[in-house]
Amino acid sequence: MDSNVRPESMERITTPELAKAFIDEQVKEIREQVGNDRVLLALSGGVDSSVVAALLIKAIGTQLTCVHVNHGLLRKGEPEQVIEVFKNQMGADLIYVDAVDRFLDLLKDVKDPETKRKIIGKEFIEVFAEEARKLEGVKYLAQGTIYPDILESHGIKAHHNVGGLPEDLKFELCEPVKLLYKDEVRMVGKELGLPDNMVYRQPFPGPGLGVRCVGAITRDRLEAVRESDAILREEFANAGLAGQVWQYFTVIPDVTSTGIKDGKRTDDWMVIIRAVNSVDATSATVPEIPYELLFKIRERIFAEVNGVNRVLYDLSTKPLATIEFE
Ligand code: XMP
Repeated sequence: MDSNVRPESMERITTPELAKAFIDEQVKEIREQVGNDRVLLALSGGVDSSVVAALLIKAIGTQLTCVHVNHGLLRKGEPEQVIEVFKNQMGADLIYVDAVDRFLDLLKDVKDPETKRKIIGKEFIEVFAEEARKLEGVKYLAQGTIYPDILESHGIKAHHNVGGLPEDLKFELCEPVKLLYKDEVRMVGKELGLPDNMVYRQPFPGPGLGVRCVGAITRDRLEAVRESDAILREEFANAGLAGQVWQYFTVIPDVTSTGIKDGKRTDDWMVIIRAVNSVDATSATVPEIPYELLFKIRERIFAEVNGVNRVLYDLSTKPLATIEFE
């Protein structure tokens, strides 16, 4: 039987009990598959890799080595949360790589979105491969492949995040959630004790904030995107919208506009708020966000984010617009 085909007899994981049964079964299978060998995992902190990490830590503890690459394009608080949850709370063998300068130096002056994506993807693999080469006796590579990735091998993840490890790094694969749908992965993650803001997280692109700092990435705009995104997420959560709106974030285009501060004209960035509802990202609608909330977010961005003098709300549906700006 093709191990990449979900058997018809496989029950949908819809309850904590079923999630627990899945976890028990996988723990056994992983132990059988891996034996005493070492396993390596690129842990981004996204739902899929986080669930695989938690599952493997439960099954084989520190036989798993997690590598978390901070490419500087993550959301505020993400690297810290990965370290807190996996290293401090779960006792994982976690290698944290601060590659921020490396990525930002490579991306300097690069305007074209697809070139930016390629640089980020290629450098990510390069950094991960460097870490992998330092480790001895690794036999398996764990991956957070999920069933939609297999079904839609022409889909967004495959389309945007192409690339494999270099020839000298040959590992057998360990993909314990590859037959699960996203809602099942979340159910398993919840049962494994991962925090809600990790398990029910909105989609986040591989190139991260890099595609939300439109055009050539500059450090000031990147920080402003990160700070304004954190404010938006916090205010959406406070307003009870976090699990309601499918995806929401801020964008800073590569143009300035005129403002006024302390009686003087300013030339500063603009923050665009983007919020969309979607089922599978192929089309998207724009939810009605209360003006009161938008005004509150604007006030906080004006007060807390440097170099911004204008806040806009994007009304564009997909099509004609895409969800991201580039
Ligand atoms: P668009 O902008 O194409 O986005 O309407 C559809 C969905 O895909 C996400 N997206 C990406 N995900 N790598 C990813 O892993 C990427 O390069 C990428 N670009 C867009 C986007 O956030 C939305 O959920």
